[in-house]
Amino acid sequence: YDLSALNTLRLPAKAEAFARFSSASELLSLLTLAQRHNWPVRVLGGGSNVLLAADVHGLVLQSAMTSVRLLREDVTHRWLAVDAGMNWHQWVQGSTEFGHGLENLALIPGSVGASPIQNIGAYGVEVADCIDSVSGIQLSSRQWRTLSAAECRFAYRDSIFKHELAGDFIVTRVVFRLGKIFQPDLSYGPLASWATAQGDAICPQALIEQVCAIRKSKLPDPSQIPNAGSFFKNPLVSVYQAQQLREQYPALPVYQQADGRIKLAAGWLIEQAGWKGRWLGPVRMHDQQALVLTTNGAAAYADIEQLRNAVVDSVNEQFGVQLEPEPQPF
Ligand code: EPU
Repeated sequence: YDLSALNTLRLPAKAEAFARFSSASELLSLLTLAQRHNWPVRVLGGGSNVLLAADVHGLVLQSAMTSVRLLREDVTHRWLAVDAGMNWHQWVQGSTEFGHGLENLALIPGSVGASPIQNIGAYGVEVADCIDSVSGIQLSSRQWRTLSAAECRFAYRDSIFKHELAGDFIVTRVVFRLGKIFQPDLSYGPLASWATAQGDAICPQALIEQVCAIRKSKLPDPSQIPNAGSFFKNPLVSVYQAQQLREQYPALPVYQQADGRIKLAAGWLIEQAGWKGRWLGPVRMHDQQALVLTTNGAAAYADIEQLRNAVVDSVNEQFGVQLEPEPQPF
């Protein structure tokens, strides 16, 4: 089964078997089928954060379930259960009917089920801020499990699903807790200046539209230009290292973190290292946002690896900072 149209980097790869499930019982029968064939099982969301290095042995599954259910509410919040197969942006748009908190995450490619894995984030908000629990099936034990937000151990672009449960959990449903009162997070510079110009009449839909406009101005549309969003995580360094770098590079953007560390802008480092818009074979770092690796549509995994190594080495040499890739090997 050809996976090239199912990953936004359009990497050519085939899976031994592929299936979409439309119910929990269908998922269970597919897992039984996989067991009979001795197939490892892997799950794919929107394919916008994965690196397909080679053909995939085993069964690749995708959720085709997209329901949204109101579970309960209190005076201030509503709890919504959303199936993993729901398109992320569609859910963000629909969510404002129930409550608020997800507006800044508009237009992020991918599915609801993938959102907790890497704890998607943008413009001052992380999905963890609105997640109440994540449910799914653990492959090794074949047990249904619900993890509370605390049990998910969310951190910057990180969760338990990238560690203890990596490759061992199929997210089938996410429960979101949305605020009834719209209290927009306008901490991101360009959103703040937009909000000031708007006066105080900001509505959720306008915020979503503004987030979409900001994204479209910098980030390539994966349906037009193959990419997987930010290709590296923004590195976290010590206050000391940030100060040293700041002395040498006064324009270096720095973001103070709650844990005392400093987050640097990988896109800035990559641009300074000369990689913004520069092709290496069929791949390059995007000319509007150097953190995003794009391809000309005919790239193989080896091409991506080559550029990744070149960028990591350049940034390491110039700044002494180690960049880590963000998309997950599949
Ligand atoms: N910058 C440059 N050159 C570039 C790119 C960025 O100098 O080519 C500078 C910018 O001028 C700015 C700073 O770097 O001062 C930060 O840039 P930006 O606000 O565009 O965000 P980012 O740190 O590059 C992160 C997320 C994005 C998210 C934005 C907005 C990560 C890995 N990436 O990017 O998430 O949309 O913030 O909040 O944390 C993704 O994960 O796929 C993603 C797109």
